Amino acid sequence: MAPVKLLGTQGLTRQYGGLIAVNDVDFNLYEDRIHAIIGPNGAGKTTLVSMICGRTPSSSGRINFKGKDITRLSSAKRVQAGIVYTFQVTSIFGNLSCFENVALSAQRTLREQPEGRASLEKWGMVSEIEIEKAVSKYLLKVGLEGIESQIASTLPYGHQKLLEVAMGLAAGPELLILDEPTQGLAESEIDNLIQLIRDISKSVNVLLIEHNMEVVFNLAEHVTVMDNGSILAEGTPSEIENNPAVQDSYLGN
Ligand SMILES: Nc1ncnc2c1ncn2[C@@H]1O[C@H](COP(=O)(O)OP(=O)(O)OP(=O)(O)O)[C@@H](O)[C@H]1O
Ligand SMILES: [Mg+2]
Repeated sequence: MAPVKLLGTQGLTRQYGGLIAVNDVDFNLYEDRIHAIIGPNGAGKTTLVSMICGRTPSSSGRINFKGKDITRLSSAKRVQAGIVYTFQVTSIFGNLSCFENVALSAQRTLREQPEGRASLEKWGMVSEIEIEKAVSKYLLKVGLEGIESQIASTLPYGHQKLLEVAMGLAAGPELLILDEPTQGLAESEIDNLIQLIRDISKSVNVLLIEHNMEVVFNLAEHVTVMDNGSILAEGTPSEIENNPAVQDSYLGN
């Protein structure tokens, strides 16, 4: 069966003054495979996904998601459409508990689902039981069950990253974008996260920005290499590994 296109950009560009962070990029993402973006520091990876999720406005170009033009949608509308981004630097609310962090994401999602609304619908509210169920589910999924009441900033860094993944999942994504999820993690935590991402990818499309090549070659089924604001190469991990241009610009050093 031919792969189904989930997301596409045409001529997507972002300029900062004289600097072109992302230059006329046609980026395509297909359903049901883990897609990684790699490339040196400053290549434009974060800027590209920030435009895709609506955090950074594009200077020019278009973005399509599931056949619809989303170029002008707000980031909130894009979350509703199913595009969820987790930040390169963690974006948890440090002074809230783990439960509250995940509940904030879950509440928004449940409010939009008919089954979560039943009797409280006219108030635009979601029942506490619904939220508790959802929070437990996502904390369990990332292996953080039992720490609901702990204040998020007191968690070890690796657990904060997992909490952020739980928050991303609670937002009900169809496409989950993870920007350097393994950055700052210990080797054993990375192995855990690889398992988790593989598990998540069974039900959610995953787009990963990652510098750790072991993680990329372990997880990704398709790789896009960015360099200097443009796409340098695309292909399977082994095609990328053996691509001379990629070796020169990135993998070699
Ligand atoms: N808000 C901004 N204002 C000005 N320049 C920016 C801004 N954001 C990014 N840039 C510049 O755009 C270029 C691309 O940055 P970007 O963060 O997208 O790279 P990246 O590939 O994600 O790098 P890294 O691997 O270090 O995270 C860099 O030269 C960066 O300095
Ligand atoms: Mg980045």
